[in-house]
Amino acid sequence: MFNVAIDGPSGAGKSSICTEAAKRLGFVHVDTGALYRSIAYSTIKNGTNIDDEISLRNLLNMTKIEILFENDTQSVILNGENINDKIRSEEVSLKASDVSKIPMVREFLLDLQRQLARNGNTLMDGRDIGTVVLPDADVKIFLTASPEKRAERRYLQLLAKGEKIEYNSVLDKIIKRDYQDSHREIAPLKPSEDSVIVDTSELDFEESVKKVIEIIEEKL
Ligand code: DC
Repeated sequence: MFNVAIDGPSGAGKSSICTEAAKRLGFVHVDTGALYRSIAYSTIKNGTNIDDEISLRNLLNMTKIEILFENDTQSVILNGENINDKIRSEEVSLKASDVSKIPMVREFLLDLQRQLARNGNTLMDGRDIGTVVLPDADVKIFLTASPEKRAERRYLQLLAKGEKIEYNSVLDKIIKRDYQDSHREIAPLKPSEDSVIVDTSELDFEESVKKVIEIIEEKL
């Protein structure tokens, strides 16, 4: 069993780069952001006040998350419902950043993430995989890009999906999320000392995938 931890800020292309790299390597790709998004989606759907510990605890007690892997794609099943196409909106993104600051939520997802890594050769992406979830991962990569480049990519993605949005508002949100993600007390976003930093600002998709695979293959 070989574990690869890939961390980095939102919009560095982590998800698509990891999906493709895992596919070429024959690894299972686990996108842990989707787990935080699922909790966020559930709090929105149930109108849960996330600042109220008891309400949040009750919600988590009623929450069953399962992960399905089909055709190299991960699906999140929340209490029996496939919610994959519901967790990518801006509303859920912002809420996911909020819920991910809460220790109870991080603890709730920790075991699930570790179990998923035991299923076989795994490439897991998130924010704290190399530092907290899989500190003994065989390879740790920190995938990043400049905020402007990340905003540009995210903006184009949202446009393609038909969302009406302005570049500056995407950039503002990215800067706000970066700040929240890297300044929270628990599991802040930061490269672990033993991670290889890959900056994709000047790399296209194919170059980024090749770089990641090259780093992994060196250790395989
Ligand atoms: O990678 P993403 O944009 O789908 O992540 C959604 C949110 O979840 C983001 O604000 C950071 C948080 N997150 C986290 O705190 N830890 C992880 N391992 C993955 C995501």
